[in-house]
Amino acid sequence: MTPHLLNVYNRAYPLFERGEGSWLFTPEGDAYLDCVGGIATNALGHAHPALVAALTGQAQKLWHISNMSRVEGQERLAGALTAASFADRVFFANSGTEAIECALKMARRYHFVRGAPERTMIYGFAGAFHGRSYAAINAAGNPAYVEGFGDRLPGYATLDLGDVKAIANAIATPTTAAIIVEPVQGEGGARDVPRALLRLIRGLCRRHGVLLIYDEVQAGMGRTGRLFAHQWHRGIEPDIMAVAKALGCGFPVGACLATEDAASGMAPGTHGSTFGGNPLAMAVANVAFDIIAAPETLTHVLDVAQLLRGGFESLRRNYPSIIRDIRGRGLLIGVALHPNNRAFVTAARDQKLLLAAGGDNIVRLLPALNISTADAGEALRRFEASCIAMQMEAAA
Ligand SMILES: Cc1ncc(COP(=O)(O)O)c(C=O)c1O
Repeated sequence: MTPHLLNVYNRAYPLFERGEGSWLFTPEGDAYLDCVGGIATNALGHAHPALVAALTGQAQKLWHISNMSRVEGQERLAGALTAASFADRVFFANSGTEAIECALKMARRYHFVRGAPERTMIYGFAGAFHGRSYAAINAAGNPAYVEGFGDRLPGYATLDLGDVKAIANAIATPTTAAIIVEPVQGEGGARDVPRALLRLIRGLCRRHGVLLIYDEVQAGMGRTGRLFAHQWHRGIEPDIMAVAKALGCGFPVGACLATEDAASGMAPGTHGSTFGGNPLAMAVANVAFDIIAAPETLTHVLDVAQLLRGGFESLRRNYPSIIRDIRGRGLLIGVALHPNNRAFVTAARDQKLLLAAGGDNIVRLLPALNISTADAGEALRRFEASCIAMQMEAAA
């Protein structure tokens, strides 16, 4: 451990020097089964040959040119993203937080250019996570993340997913600009937002001229078995959507997607980024997109997810004092626990299985979308060994 890094992370895992597929290796050669995937990011595992070739090939040609030039890879990826979604326009950023920042600015600007500058209120939901910028922490409203950073920003408020009346009132208020929601909450507890609620929110937003923003930074890009999580439901497309994480499979890139109408307030000079959509990021993301969007990848996600879910359901029956609930969708899996989730992450690490903690005392599994069925079975075996270790510890 160095004393020179800002002390903001709990580093629960060992130092790794190499990765291959769903496995990570320490300098000593110990192999760990990676069911975190850089927090839903290494969607094609580590060192995928096609991604390595894309990155190294581009590295020999052109790294960076700024957005004062056309970037061919941006045009290609924007074409692919819009062809596969509700969107007409794409802005490329470097992270999920930046994609969210663009979404929030776009929503306010939309109303501003329509002569309704008073429409600035952005409503998020309790349990959400949208990133760590001021806008993002205020949009999610998690008290633990806003504490100590001064006044809450004006123009943000938090709703409860269960309080339909408050949601309807917020949308009907003439100062409301947008609603932001994760169709499947990730960090907050792997909660799948009910289709009926998404439908209600979509309908009310349309009726009252409020923009609907989806945060699919974690749930998007194939993680749930559809390219985007909201595509499980018909007729609930957003106006704006943020994606990142698996978009670059580990190379930093994010994107804000929007309809032509929602994007209409954004003119040259209203937003930008030095690095956003640079040639290196685009080279990787284009190849990643083609692999992730392929039907065989999405079918594989559903098959492995079914295997894992079945396995966890039987572990729940066998270890009722450990496992409380199984949540999530596709390969965004949350296992809600009775014992402390961070203690469980440590117990799993001792079994050389990497898991991520999450809200509501869950552990999350966010494995590579191409994890083999053999590795998924191995993850279940190691998870069971962790349950046994926790049980023995409780009995001691
Ligand atoms: C749903 C969601 N939104 C936004 C973010 C922020 O993304 P980033 O960490 O790339 O800024 C995250 C990161 O975990 C996320 O899960």
